[in-house]
Amino acid sequence: MNSYISKYLQREYDLKRQRAISEAEARKNGLLNRLPKYGELLTKKNTVAIDMAKTMLKGTDIDKQIAEDNLKIKLMEIDKQIEALFVSEGLPKDYLYPKFECSKCEDTGFIKLGNKESRCPCFTQKVVNITYKQNNMLRLEDENFNTFDIAYFSNKADKEKYQSDKSPLQNIEEIKKVAISFVDNMTNPCQKNLLFTGRAGTGKTFMSSAIAHSAVNKGYSVLYQTAPLLMDMIIEAKFSGYKDETKKEQYNRVFDVDLLIIDDLGTETLSNSKFTELFNIINTRLLKDKKTIISTNLTLQDLAVQYDDRVMSRLIGNYTICRFFGDDIRLKKKRMC
Ligand SMILES: Nc1ncnc2c1ncn2[C@@H]1O[C@H](COP(=O)(O)OP(=O)(O)OP(=O)(O)O)[C@@H](O)[C@H]1O
Ligand SMILES: [Mg+2]
Ligand SMILES: [Zn+2]
Repeated sequence: MNSYISKYLQREYDLKRQRAISEAEARKNGLLNRLPKYGELLTKKNTVAIDMAKTMLKGTDIDKQIAEDNLKIKLMEIDKQIEALFVSEGLPKDYLYPKFECSKCEDTGFIKLGNKESRCPCFTQKVVNITYKQNNMLRLEDENFNTFDIAYFSNKADKEKYQSDKSPLQNIEEIKKVAISFVDNMTNPCQKNLLFTGRAGTGKTFMSSAIAHSAVNKGYSVLYQTAPLLMDMIIEAKFSGYKDETKKEQYNRVFDVDLLIIDDLGTETLSNSKFTELFNIINTRLLKDKKTIISTNLTLQDLAVQYDDRVMSRLIGNYTICRFFGDDIRLKKKRMC
């Protein structure tokens, strides 16, 4: 991981966490000023704890046990009174807890797995987002499985028009199932990658975004890039001799990220070096068992003309091919406005 970006982000996390704690502290002080009763209950809690500690220091084992039981009961009673006070003031139960952005790592950037500490997925994804400034490229909040709208897909099959016995609706529902199962099996080596093919406006980028949204929520790192930008970036990183740290980081991400989405394959200008790089990306990710989604307007036949056998055999052998068809939703949406 790029150390400069990591350090920068870690500072942001430390500040964010500190801010959440200070705000919780400020809410507590505000409450103490506004509700003297709350202060009294807190003092009572302290007094009970001190009294009990004294008894426990002096007494026999039986005394200690009784003291401990008493302490628990008394503290629970006070907690109930505090809870009742919060309810009567219309305050939520967690009013005094710090509001962390990430509940998994409480904004530390680290999580514990057994006795091992590792980076929280929220942190890893932020590094990806920073290195690619890709936040606005996929509209994860607008295009996901919750906003998926089947109303855009006709339920009328038209073999002549779509070269399929299925209706666009039936087809997209099947692809959606494939997509959901894909995210559920992201780390399964038997799970194939996905190739989305279809005309403009049939929902390929939307489906990729929905998968990305779901994968990010499950803690996977995701990188989205259109084929032309991806190829330019790869070639640039090579030309710079990988000396530029950010470019090197960007380059490595393409091979390391859990899910790589290459959109609009076939729109990049063609050159031999780009073919080589495309093959390298597809092949290395297959070997590393990292999942990839490729979208294209080209048909399989077009792809076979444009790319060589080594790319094609990998696409056909290791990718589930999903053909999108139906009316151009972009046009449908325009007409509806
Ligand atoms: N399942 C869906 N639910 C709601 N809106 C959708 C859905 N699928 C696509 N859309 C909308 O339709 C429009 C076109 O979809 P999208 O961009 O995914 O098409 P595309 O197949 O990627 O087209 P292109 O090949 O031109 O890139 C977008 O505005 C998108 O938000
Ligand atoms: Mg698209
Ligand atoms: Zn986190």
